[in-house]
Amino acid sequence: MSQARIVYLNGEFLPYAEAKVPVMDRGFLFADGIYEVSAVLSGRLVDNAAHLARLDRSLGEIGIRNPHTGAEWLALQTDLVARNGLGEGLLYMQVTRGVFERDFAFPPAGTPPTVMMFTQAKTIGANPLAETGAAIVTVPDLRWKRRDIKSVALLAQVIAKQQAAEAGVAEAWMVEDGAVTEGSSSTAFIVAGDRIVTRPLSHALLPGITRLAVMRLAEEEGLTVEERLFSVEEAMGADEAFYTSASSFVMPVVRIDGTTVGDGRPGPLSRRLRALYLAMARETLE
Ligand code: PDD
Repeated sequence: MSQARIVYLNGEFLPYAEAKVPVMDRGFLFADGIYEVSAVLSGRLVDNAAHLARLDRSLGEIGIRNPHTGAEWLALQTDLVARNGLGEGLLYMQVTRGVFERDFAFPPAGTPPTVMMFTQAKTIGANPLAETGAAIVTVPDLRWKRRDIKSVALLAQVIAKQQAAEAGVAEAWMVEDGAVTEGSSSTAFIVAGDRIVTRPLSHALLPGITRLAVMRLAEEEGLTVEERLFSVEEAMGADEAFYTSASSFVMPVVRIDGTTVGDGRPGPLSRRLRALYLAMARETLE
């Protein structure tokens, strides 16, 4: 854990060790809060307006007022990235319902939300895993029924990712009623011929920002995007599989529960979409 980091907390840029949140913070007690993650390339933010729009929506869905306009967020984000000298990595943003005596119902209107941001250095563009492709495992989806909200309540995903770690793989895809919902921190895709298949948006999964960008790029490439449910068996037998997120962009999947997908190497469409996404991201940095 880098102690040298500068953290943004409630209007202040503080050394990591001084950025403290009271134990009565509702994020700590109830996971009563929302988060977002934007990627940073060349010291600038990737597809950030869409992440800020989703942050605003998530907050609205649980009745926390958004403490900042988009322009204010961007100014704070840019400042934090610069203060940390971050070239490539992630910017994490979190807003909780604030600090109040423990009580399940909301605190009085006017209780200020807790607003926090930090950065993490990470190689996303030249990630060596994208060259070999990732192995994944599948796990039951243990989550609540509003997964479209980017809630900080991530216990089911923590358990899923731990199962992946114990299996020595990078990601876990969660499965419900025989269909893949999404990755523990990513959106799941399969490729069948010239068709890209991913689950349609609903309360069952997060509306991935990278998902939308990749769907648009695929369509521009003349591929057909099919939004429908698919099973683990279909994914295992697909031509290709991949997952998308702000922290991995487009990650080819080469093994699912030990079964090889395609020829066991990143497929041509997965590689192409990764390259297209990187090019698009680099051209549209904020
Ligand atoms: N997670 N689904 C889930 C459950 C996620 O947590 C994420 C992202 C995604 C992909 O969304 P996007 O393309 O907007 O990053 C899908 C972030 C990266 C995280 O929790 O670190």
